[in-house]
Amino acid sequence: MKAIVQHRYGGPEVLALKEVRLPEIGEDEILVKVHASSATTADWRIRASAFPKALWLPGRLMMGLVRPRNPIPGGEFAGRVVEVGAKVTRFQPGEAVFGFSGHGANAEYLAMSESACVAPCPPSLSFTEAAALPFGGLAALVFLRDVAALKPGQRVLVVGATGGVGSYAVQIAKALGADVTAICSADNAWLARDLGAEQVLDYRTENPAQLGQRFDLVFDTVGAMDMAAARAVLKRDGLFLPLNFSLREMLQAFRARLFGGPRLQLAVNPDRAEDLEALSELVWEGRLRPVIDRMYPLSEVAEAHAYVEGRHRKGAVILTVAGPDAKSSPPPRGFPLFAA
Ligand SMILES: NC(=O)c1ccc[n+]([C@@H]2O[C@H](COP(=O)([O-])OP(=O)(O)OC[C@H]3O[C@@H](n4cnc5c(N)ncnc54)[C@H](OP(=O)(O)O)[C@@H]3O)[C@@H](O)[C@H]2O)c1
Repeated sequence: MKAIVQHRYGGPEVLALKEVRLPEIGEDEILVKVHASSATTADWRIRASAFPKALWLPGRLMMGLVRPRNPIPGGEFAGRVVEVGAKVTRFQPGEAVFGFSGHGANAEYLAMSESACVAPCPPSLSFTEAAALPFGGLAALVFLRDVAALKPGQRVLVVGATGGVGSYAVQIAKALGADVTAICSADNAWLARDLGAEQVLDYRTENPAQLGQRFDLVFDTVGAMDMAAARAVLKRDGLFLPLNFSLREMLQAFRARLFGGPRLQLAVNPDRAEDLEALSELVWEGRLRPVIDRMYPLSEVAEAHAYVEGRHRKGAVILTVAGPDAKSSPPPRGFPLFAA
């Protein structure tokens, strides 16, 4: 099969399209023919070994000390099950699925455990659209619903509101009944509003502290805010939730707990199948839609990575793997599909 392969850490040029062996499945595994995958912030960080300073060594120990332990990159995917192991009960050959595998999805076929982060494809979405959901959708859902336990009527500030996670965070915060203020560039203010933000600030010219408003939650998806800036806009019992963290945030979380006032919480998304199903339900209810910025053929993965690394993407950057989208289906109800 064809797959993107990376045998060393480095720039986008380390990614090459190669012919590799088809993965073999175990008793509890499924083989998925991948129709669409993507390039995400997690993918380029792993490719470049761009882990936060204090987490560089743990990052390398997890991903491979000298070279990537898993040479095929790509976490998000949507496609069709073509083979199942003898003990598989959740899936059948022919079923359309989507999910997050962490690695291995930038390829024509992907083997994964049936108990991993994989679920039936949302019925109203094509493979391309479904592959745009897991990375950003899962992070937004888990951090807002579970970690922040966001309640209806609470006020949320989403930093990086039109990016890979942010574009889903705005929609999911709205679906949870929150009042959303978005921070992005002026160029993308229309998209943030279209996704549901009541108020939009341009990070180049506006400072949220000047609003004179207090928030229950600051959800920073890009690493643009620190605890001091968050404290200036949070209620006394508010929460600062940064997706990116290093030793500094760990110490600040400890200090905030010790001295009281707004809290800082750090968490890691557990990538669960049941959360994919929750995303599917939101899509079905018309409260969540995939946001796709650009699409590249698999062979142009290096260009896709370079674009995502620029940190101005709007929603997902898709890699098309298996020719035309074979799962014919109508677009999700009531929304334009593409960000621009
Ligand atoms: N802890 C976890 O479990 C977990 C899970 C998932 C992801 N993550 C991490 O979370 C991060 C999510 O990244 P992502 O892919 O969502 O980011 P991204 O797509 O690269 O973010 C791009 C967005 O950020 C905006 N932006 C750029 N600079 C900004 C600034 N100074 N202030 C405010 N907004 C700014 C851009 O807006 P304009 O284009 O309008 O300029 C664009 O909308 C990654 O680092 C990922 O590793 C962590």
